[in-house]
Amino acid sequence: MSTHTVTMTINGRRHTGTVEARVSLADFLRDQAGYTGVHLGCEHGVCGACTVLVEGNAVRSCLMLAVQADGAGVTTVEGLAAADGTLHRVQEALMNEHGLQCGFCTPGIVMTMAALSGEGKKATETELLDALSGHLCRCTGYQGIRRAAQQLAKPEAMDTANGEQS
Ligand code: FES
Ligand code: FES
Repeated sequence: MSTHTVTMTINGRRHTGTVEARVSLADFLRDQAGYTGVHLGCEHGVCGACTVLVEGNAVRSCLMLAVQADGAGVTTVEGLAAADGTLHRVQEALMNEHGLQCGFCTPGIVMTMAALSGEGKKATETELLDALSGHLCRCTGYQGIRRAAQQLAKPEAMDTANGEQS
């Protein structure tokens, strides 16, 4: 069986591995790179739990092959907080609004919101909720997640990724 060498920068660190062509980005991130914050629910692109950032865009990593991400910059939930532990404002908002319970869906939800609320980006509540409509959560009833989106969309919400007030 043929294999391919792939190199990506994951959470700021260069990582090289060898994969079969059929290996998903999700499996590569979890099994080879050790980023188990990438959760696998459906493995069919339905639940959103596996969402990561590839070059800043939210991607369902169960639907992308590792070879397709060769050379890319990838961010998982483990790489979102600042080096000193300061939470990303999306993480803060979800925590403040009790937008999680068991946490299984949470990494994917965080990454989708982060793609729209990263440094220099400010999505509207509608844009955030539209993006979140592709995520399934069995626990929260979605209301806390919705409030977190509202908090992020407020005019006075922080405009940078890790804590500076606008
Ligand atoms: S595990 Fe990828 S969308 Fe469900
Ligand atoms: S918090 Fe449990 S699935 Fe969403």
